[in-house]
Amino acid sequence: MTTKLWGGRFEGGLHPIFDSLNRSLPFDRRLVFQDIEGSVAWAHGLKGAGVLSEADAEQIEAALGEIRSELEQDESSIDESVAEDVHSFIEEKLTAKVGDLGKRLHTGRSRNDQVATDLKLYLRGWLARVQMEIGALQSALVALAEEHADAALPGYTHLQRAQPVTFGHQCLAYVEMLARDAERLRDAGARMDTCPLGSGALAGTAYPVDREALAGALGFGRAATNSLDAVSDRDHALEIMFGCLTAMLHLSRMAEDWIFLASQEAGVLRFGDTVSTGSSLMPQKRNPDALELLRGKVGRVHGSLTTLVTATKGLPLAYNKDMQEDKEALFDALDTTVACLRVAKLVAEDVTFDRERALAATRVGHLDATDLADLLVARGVPFREAHDRVGAAVNAAIAEGVELGDLSDGARDGVLPELAGVDLAAELTTAAMLRRRDVVGGTAVERVRAAASHWKENLRGKSPAHLSETGAI
Ligand code: ARG
Repeated sequence: MTTKLWGGRFEGGLHPIFDSLNRSLPFDRRLVFQDIEGSVAWAHGLKGAGVLSEADAEQIEAALGEIRSELEQDESSIDESVAEDVHSFIEEKLTAKVGDLGKRLHTGRSRNDQVATDLKLYLRGWLARVQMEIGALQSALVALAEEHADAALPGYTHLQRAQPVTFGHQCLAYVEMLARDAERLRDAGARMDTCPLGSGALAGTAYPVDREALAGALGFGRAATNSLDAVSDRDHALEIMFGCLTAMLHLSRMAEDWIFLASQEAGVLRFGDTVSTGSSLMPQKRNPDALELLRGKVGRVHGSLTTLVTATKGLPLAYNKDMQEDKEALFDALDTTVACLRVAKLVAEDVTFDRERALAATRVGHLDATDLADLLVARGVPFREAHDRVGAAVNAAIAEGVELGDLSDGARDGVLPELAGVDLAAELTTAAMLRRRDVVGGTAVERVRAAASHWKENLRGKSPAHLSETGAI
């Protein structure tokens, strides 16, 4: 049997089977420092309300500071604790240090406004750090894009060869996606910027706490304005998980593209040993497990979002214990997303691109058909008719077993008479095709170079040189 914060009217202890379902300390322990931060602010809020003296508040703050340093050194007291949750754990520790004064800290406060506040504080820190992780991956992709701004490869639609693009252009496509992910997460952070503390269990605290000052002390823009909503709002967790999910979806698209490009069928990418794996049976294998995991982990983050959507659907106001289910799903989504961003960066830093083979691939499969139609358009043929005629030219080229630039004179005279005397092979080089896409957002080499340097400038200072690659976030 453990001592509970709410034990007053209970005589027997919890059944151990229920106790273990009920306890959240094993996972909400990661809010321990936020719980301390919120508790210090609350002590000062109570001081302002005349509930605690200046000396009381200072004593509580000092004791909480000691608890923080002890836990920074060693968290084993959490492992050993039988407390129900992180809030009970901190209160127990505080009371062990300052006696009855520790028991006064919970005046006018509930674990309901406490947990809502702790979670927002935690998420705020995570959001700041994930921006750096996204920036680091973007920087790695921009470096690849700079190096390969002029390296052509087939671009695909429907996974059929379509038109040449540069590998740099493709890398920058993921950079754009990630920029939106970072922005989406920032937006979620801005909407989350209201402080629930002082909402009490549901109806607002009964003590004259200056909630705006409390919000300011905890770094929030303002106090949450409805206590019922404040203690039971988990929108921010949902939004952030959705932000994680779109980032993961984007990583999965990059993963799929690169898995394909590294296959022997495409054969233009090769991943380094740091991110490749072998087969226990087939000695020749070199498998892209890192990318397959990026692709596969999306399901896990999607599952976490679904968990919280389902847990919050139809919940009556205000707090319900269902809400405790937010944390494991949320933390897993956050951890998975960060781990995948980091692995994606490692892959981007350890990949080699085979320029010759990729360029050769742009020469097979009539990727120049659109440009050939454009040559007809330049000679006055309406595009729709040019499209038809080049379709016939493609059939002729297939029948002759050649590319469009090498069509026989007979076939050219039949469907492309306007182009008599034009050096088609010279007009339809991959370089010429890239050069024609010289438009905002196009794949012309100079456009890609300019986009890469724009991003490089934009990302300056947004990469986490100071974050260790294995460090926890
Ligand atoms: N461990 C709880 C949670 O994570 C804290 C809030 C508990 N409140 C309550 N009234 N039981 O949601």
